[in-house]
Amino acid sequence: MVLREIQDLKHTVSQLMHSGKGILAADESDKTAGKRLAMVDLPNEPDHRRAFRELLFTAPDIEEYISGVILYDSSIKNTTTDGVPFPDLLAARGIVPGIKVDMGIRDLPGFPGETVTKGLDALDERFAEYYKLGARFAKWRAVVTIGEEIPTDAALRINAVTLAEYAALAQASGIVPVVEPEVLFQGDHSIVRAEEVTIRTLQILFDTLRTYRVDLSGTILKTSMVLAGDSNTAVSSPEEVAGATLRTLHLSVPHDVGGIVFLSGGQTPVRATENLNAIAKLGSQPWPISSSYSRALEEPVLVAWQGKDDNIPLAQKALLYRAKMNGLAQQGKYEAKRDKQRDKKNIATDSQD
Ligand code: G3H
Repeated sequence: MVLREIQDLKHTVSQLMHSGKGILAADESDKTAGKRLAMVDLPNEPDHRRAFRELLFTAPDIEEYISGVILYDSSIKNTTTDGVPFPDLLAARGIVPGIKVDMGIRDLPGFPGETVTKGLDALDERFAEYYKLGARFAKWRAVVTIGEEIPTDAALRINAVTLAEYAALAQASGIVPVVEPEVLFQGDHSIVRAEEVTIRTLQILFDTLRTYRVDLSGTILKTSMVLAGDSNTAVSSPEEVAGATLRTLHLSVPHDVGGIVFLSGGQTPVRATENLNAIAKLGSQPWPISSSYSRALEEPVLVAWQGKDDNIPLAQKALLYRAKMNGLAQQGKYEAKRDKQRDKKNIATDSQD
């Protein structure tokens, strides 16, 4: 890659990793968007999907705390009710538009319980189209499940190669790749097992990215925090999560990676904020670190909205508030006891594809 292209990628990385801001992952597939709408008893119809996205993207002042928004194929091509394309609306607010380009997962034959991510076909053409529509970063998610005998190295390797091909194609198109190997929170595994699996996953991933000549400074890692599974009797404290997560990152992520963002993974919104804050409190690291939450940002919005127009201002305030809490947490300045949403109902829903 020529210097100019690398500089463009690095510029996008620095916009996305702006201090005090995080990324909103509003990139649910149409099917997963239906699960969000079901929480407020709305049928999964295009108008309702658009209403939810419009509510999010027009929320006043969110650009103070949100650096980028990940869109989906149908939403990057969609507009507000007034006809403004969503990516243009975001870019005009100083928020970088992004695009999820993977097409979900399929079973890996011969490897029960393991999957590989689909979507490489014609990806170069899709990137060219998304770039024209305004996308400057992209996301590809691989799924790693922890079980007694999984993940296997074979499954980790095929997903790493797939992520590397995606990342190389993204960079060749002027788009920053967010590489996301999500080690699922769902399960009864211990935090020690989560740490072991995440280290292995990331070591294989970065070896492979280097092999495929992906420029790491123009790449963002989106990773899970290291914590005990959601059905393990032990609940990891923020301090335990922070320690295990940073140990893992130091053992497996090269220092030239452009940035690291966390997914929320089914943690409650408040827990995702508390854990991010505990990580930031451990001081500055070789990489900028922030969040890229979907459920942990959207769920309080859905609870406030309830699918009713009259509630839109309240729902937008809920988004601004949660994004602000995460912005403070990114700097280690969040105070859990003053979090107004702390004692409200926190729902954890299904992951997205
Ligand atoms: O791929 C996962 C999303 O981008 C993040 O979603 O925060 O709900 O885990 P989540």
